[in-house]
Amino acid sequence: MIAPFKELYNSVNKLPKELGAHIERSLLVGQQLAPIHQVCLDKVALGILAHDLARSTTDSDLLNYARKYHLPINRVELCHPMLLHGPVAAFWLENQYGVSDAEVIESVYWHTVGKRSMSDIAKLVFLSDKLDAQKIVRRPFLSKVMDLAIINLDHAIVEYLNNVLASLFKGGYLVHPESLFFRNELLANMKSEYRET
Ligand SMILES: [Fe+2]
Ligand SMILES: [Fe+2]
Repeated sequence: MIAPFKELYNSVNKLPKELGAHIERSLLVGQQLAPIHQVCLDKVALGILAHDLARSTTDSDLLNYARKYHLPINRVELCHPMLLHGPVAAFWLENQYGVSDAEVIESVYWHTVGKRSMSDIAKLVFLSDKLDAQKIVRRPFLSKVMDLAIINLDHAIVEYLNNVLASLFKGGYLVHPESLFFRNELLANMKSEYRET
């Protein structure tokens, strides 16, 4: 895989400073977890470097880009266009940086809400974004997610989604449907009582 690491680093360096620092911290998590789970570090690093390229883009620009690129927009994304920063960045990664690897593109596209049947690359990008060391300080439940991520990626993601979805429900907020599908799929695979006979 010929990866545009240099171009991506240049783009990350042009992002707002705190966003760039978050990406660097997420990279450290990816570098720690990828070898443990025997996942290609180059692909994980590529996904992490690109995942928030559109995070500082305004809501109206994200909606405009998503429409221009013919990306699907659901009701929840329409209400919270920030959720489109992954899909927009994935489009840029493929079309402006020339990355064709489907796992890397998927990892960027779905890094915010998750997706059923995600590859291990995408699961690692998803978790590396959430387990930025500064986020763990702000949200103590993440330290358990980090402990689980060392042992089992699916268990870590279910723990993360259980916490985040519970607080979204409690606050009366919209929930992205794909996060629910993703959690249910992981949980059903984990628990024998949910397995189809
Ligand atoms: Fe993000
Ligand atoms: Fe992020």
